[in-house]
Amino acid sequence: MKYAFIGAGNMASAIIKGMVKSGINGSNITVFNTSKAKTDVLRAECGVDVAPSQKAVIDKVDVLILSVKPQVLDKIIETVKNDIGNRKPLIISIAVGKTIEYLETGLGADKAIVRVMPNINAKVLMSTSGYCPNSVVTEAQEKIVEGLFETVGTVTKIPEGMFSIFGVIAGSSPAFAYLYIDVLARAAQRAGMPKKQALEIAANTVLGSAKMVLESDEHPWALVDQVCSPGGTTIEGIYTLEENGFESTIVKAFDAVLAKDKAIQAKK
Ligand SMILES: NC(=O)c1ccc[n+]([C@@H]2O[C@H](COP(=O)([O-])OP(=O)(O)OC[C@H]3O[C@@H](n4cnc5c(N)ncnc54)[C@H](OP(=O)(O)O)[C@@H]3O)[C@@H](O)[C@H]2O)c1
Repeated sequence: MKYAFIGAGNMASAIIKGMVKSGINGSNITVFNTSKAKTDVLRAECGVDVAPSQKAVIDKVDVLILSVKPQVLDKIIETVKNDIGNRKPLIISIAVGKTIEYLETGLGADKAIVRVMPNINAKVLMSTSGYCPNSVVTEAQEKIVEGLFETVGTVTKIPEGMFSIFGVIAGSSPAFAYLYIDVLARAAQRAGMPKKQALEIAANTVLGSAKMVLESDEHPWALVDQVCSPGGTTIEGIYTLEENGFESTIVKAFDAVLAKDKAIQAKK
């Protein structure tokens, strides 16, 4: 299977590193990027082939990954269509906000097209990716997409109508989680612990707590109860969080991101 990437920035580099780490030979991956520095690094670290042009990267490819910024995709989509010609590679776009309808209009509705939304944690192989295929994509091609994005984390098929919701809880919420970790560490710093140490402890605790939610079969509220001894210390913290609108603030943040996403979509 031959893979090709148009655009070799942050996200493509993370995915390529994940692919190679999971056993895909770098010689089966070709990349094309406008500036050379990033592809030189990928060639040195992952053994990928570097194509001299967009046309060259598309030639003979089985799976084509469009990993340029959305505004760049607008500029190149027509030439990508021309360079593909009559061939039928599986085309994956990771461009935020670019719908299946947009991709089919630009590339042809006869093409197998999958829209994928990875997140920034792909850099540490822990992306929570969502994907949506068009009607041409076969089950076997869906498996290819799942296999590809499992190399950088977890992957879930979602209806395109849920992409905006997915974008909030998987795309934006890493920023919420980073903020929570930093605030916790800063509070510890204020109380006298070195910030670096506090950050490491807070981040590892969030990591472990997420694992508990995923693996313990217990509802998060049951886990909260397990940490709160009657008349103990933790229940004071939980009560203070609730008194100060912790839950409603998160719901409001969710709603704000979703509303902004809808406003951006409506402008297009
Ligand atoms: N970063 C995220 O957290 C995230 C999450 C989900 C989805 N995405 C999506 O992933 C895509 C890539 O994002 P990113 O963060 O990886 O961006 P990025 O780091 O800026 O990477 C984009 C790359 O595309 C290259 N490029 C620009 N024009 C090109 C062209 N005509 N042909 C070939 N390469 C070209 C750029 O090259 P030079 O800069 O070297 O010129 C750059 O290396 C975007 O569509 C974004 O919406 C990103």
